[in-house]
Amino acid sequence: MALLKAGGSTLLLLMMMCRQSLGQPSFSVDYHNDSFSKDGENFRYISGSIHYSRIPRVYWKDRLLKMYMAGLNAIQTYIPWNYHEVSPGRYSFSGDRDVEYFLKLAQDIGLLVILRPGPYICGEWDMGGLPAWLLSKKNIVLRSSDPDYIDAVDTWMGKLLPMIKPYLYQNGGPIITVQVENEYGSYFACDYNYLRHLTKLFRSYLGKEVVLFTTDGAGLRFLKCGSIQDLYATVDFGPGSNISKAFAAQRYAEPHGPLVNSEFYTGWLDHWGSNHSVVSSVAVAKSLNNILAVGANVNLYMFIGGTNFEYWNGANGPYSPQPTSYDYDAPLSEAGDLTEKYFALREVIRMYRKIPEGPLPPTTPKYAYGAVSMKKLQTVSDSLETLSFSGPVKSVYPQTFIELNQAFGYVLYRTTLPVNYNNSTPLSSPLNGIHDRAYVSVNGVAMGVLERNVALTINVTGEAGSQLDLLVENMGRINYGNHMNDFKGLVSNLTLGNEMLSDWTMYSLSIDEAVSQGLLGVGPTTLTEPPQPAGFSLPTFYEGSFRIPDGIPDLPQDSYIKLPNWRKGQIWINGFNLGRYWPTRGPQVTLFVPANILSTAAPNNVTVLELEGAPCDSTLCIVEFTATPILNATMQSDFQPSRRLYAKEDLL
Ligand SMILES: *[C@@H]1O[C@H](CO)[C@@H](O)[C@H](O)[C@H]1NC(C)=O
Ligand SMILES: *[C@@H]1O[C@H](CO)[C@@H](O)[C@H](O)[C@H]1NC(C)=O
Ligand SMILES: *[C@@H]1O[C@H](CO)[C@@H](O)[C@H](O)[C@H]1NC(C)=O
Ligand SMILES: *[C@@H]1O[C@H](CO)[C@@H](O)[C@H](O)[C@H]1NC(C)=O
Ligand SMILES: *[C@@H]1O[C@H](CO)[C@@H](O)[C@H](O)[C@H]1NC(C)=O
Ligand SMILES: *[C@@H]1O[C@H](CO)[C@@H](O)[C@H](O)[C@H]1NC(C)=O
Ligand SMILES: *[C@@H]1O[C@H](CO)[C@@H](O)[C@H](O)[C@H]1NC(C)=O
Ligand SMILES: *[C@@H]1O[C@H](CO)[C@@H](O)[C@H](O)[C@H]1NC(C)=O
Repeated sequence: MALLKAGGSTLLLLMMMCRQSLGQPSFSVDYHNDSFSKDGENFRYISGSIHYSRIPRVYWKDRLLKMYMAGLNAIQTYIPWNYHEVSPGRYSFSGDRDVEYFLKLAQDIGLLVILRPGPYICGEWDMGGLPAWLLSKKNIVLRSSDPDYIDAVDTWMGKLLPMIKPYLYQNGGPIITVQVENEYGSYFACDYNYLRHLTKLFRSYLGKEVVLFTTDGAGLRFLKCGSIQDLYATVDFGPGSNISKAFAAQRYAEPHGPLVNSEFYTGWLDHWGSNHSVVSSVAVAKSLNNILAVGANVNLYMFIGGTNFEYWNGANGPYSPQPTSYDYDAPLSEAGDLTEKYFALREVIRMYRKIPEGPLPPTTPKYAYGAVSMKKLQTVSDSLETLSFSGPVKSVYPQTFIELNQAFGYVLYRTTLPVNYNNSTPLSSPLNGIHDRAYVSVNGVAMGVLERNVALTINVTGEAGSQLDLLVENMGRINYGNHMNDFKGLVSNLTLGNEMLSDWTMYSLSIDEAVSQGLLGVGPTTLTEPPQPAGFSLPTFYEGSFRIPDGIPDLPQDSYIKLPNWRKGQIWINGFNLGRYWPTRGPQVTLFVPANILSTAAPNNVTVLELEGAPCDSTLCIVEFTATPILNATMQSDFQPSRRLYAKEDLL
């Protein structure tokens, strides 16, 4: 400073030019001009949400380019902790989890990045992105100053944030702002010490220059516990909201600085058993126009939703899991298709920003590979030796998934009937402890299904000493609200008649590993399955294969798989877990099949775990690849949907 004064204004100018040409980029909040400031100039972002964890890596570039061509100058993404720290201290950052590569791609394409690294993200993602292994401390208070929670957060952020630091805008990367936590003001704990701790942690790794921010519902009651000094407070709201009222709420927390809607909803989420959410393009376009007209910054949530592959979907409470598709009725469809909404929003953005010139990347072609015959393999009960890598665990009372050291999928609970039950006797979960769905059989005869909140009792019969099996499915952990300590499996005791059942043998099942290693089908098979009077069959694997036709150029292409007359289960193609299907409950009927999992060199293998009953004894035993998705229907409904539509406020 002394030197500058001494050297006069020429030197100052020279220094400033040097700074510019040395490319020391800056990004900050300009409280004076109610704006962001980028490299010394007022800046406004028009951003869209894309979650790399919901899109195969090979498609990241295509989706980002489509976002860029819509006129966006930024993207927003979450980093799901549980996607990367698979068990304490064991990290995964390669392939589809290579977040650094994703950041580089965004920058190459010309998009800035608004990063949301959590630790909690919500996002309709299992447990809101928190790793299930946190629950091994049974009474842990998530998202608070609980030392067990903080220790795990510190370790994770100590790994993640140094990795992110080179990608900050100040350091030559694309990241302009970093969100701390997510909608914390909607959470019961209201623990300012926790937010302060996170702030210190983020600052210690990322430096004092980066803009850190929070996002909360656009109401004073949310901002009260969600905002804190040194974190710039932003709000979220959808097209139904009163914009001036919503931004007035932000002004309560931030009297000056840029207006920011961090989640402007282009569509909405789905739940199994409820109608597919659709939000009209006109409503979204109009509201976006009004937001941009007041000079606000906006992030469109979602710009592309993508897919909850494997077991990654979350759930809302009262327990209501989300389906495999996260299409969200967004401007780019689950498969990255350009929709009417895309073009409508692009026209709005064009009024405020120059749209990049050049052709749009086309909608990716889809191919209907047609029907594939399926053949029956073993039942789950028959394949326990193959599926249970660690062998059974015995205990008097049932243990949860986490106690059994399993996070996702299915566990088989087995015991014997203590006495004769010649007449129909109620098998019950009096404390609603089936988390989340149990497929029940006695001596190889399917008895029915127990389901959390929906079916707490079924009748069974059987003689003393008969084998009672419950295959329990984890359908996704609660990702929002006060009940995220969502233990899975049998989380309370079951009763049969007046007896409490005990002396369990539990099989933790490594189904994904068994499928990808081609282990199914070996070992003993059931001779003849006994008749199944209850209208259910035993959970059973099926397998089929198909070749990609020769002589057609540009195959493989994306597709959708449909399971006509199948009921509920999980599906893999060439060992890749596509997710859950449940056409009988809907609204999702087809599953997205990305081309990158298909092969032209060898037959493609389709593996299905059907939990309730396949069509294979009566009608056609096929699955079918089609070229169009169905996300809004129900095939032969067995279920009365609650008809409950969730608004953000309802989810508290
Ligand atoms: C802030 O606003 C004033 C008046 O509108 C303008 O002259 C000035 O250039 C702005 N500052 C920046 C950094 O753009
Ligand atoms: C929006 O809210 C503002 C401020 O609360 C109010 O003055 C205005 O009438 C509202 N507009 C509509 C369309 O309800
Ligand atoms: C129940 O069935 C068993 C064998 O089928 C029979 O021995 C027994 O007497 C029956 N008990 C009752 C109470 O009906
Ligand atoms: C179980 O059977 C009894 C008769 O034995 C019947 O009254 C009851 O409705 C049945 N319960 C269920 C859940 O099917
Ligand atoms: C089952 O009941 C026993 C005895 O009351 C109790 O000690 C145990 O905690 C219960 N187990 C579960 C999972 O609720
Ligand atoms: C499908 O399974 C067969 C038999 O195990 C194997 O030879 C083939 O390579 C598999 N196909 C793919 C695409 O992995
Ligand atoms: C489902 O969506 C399709 C395509 O948008 C539409 O034609 C059809 O009417 C919808 N069906 C239902 C039941 O909403
Ligand atoms: C769900 O969709 C059906 C068929 O389109 C319609 O009749 C029903 O009113 C919808 N339910 C709700 C809650 O929107």
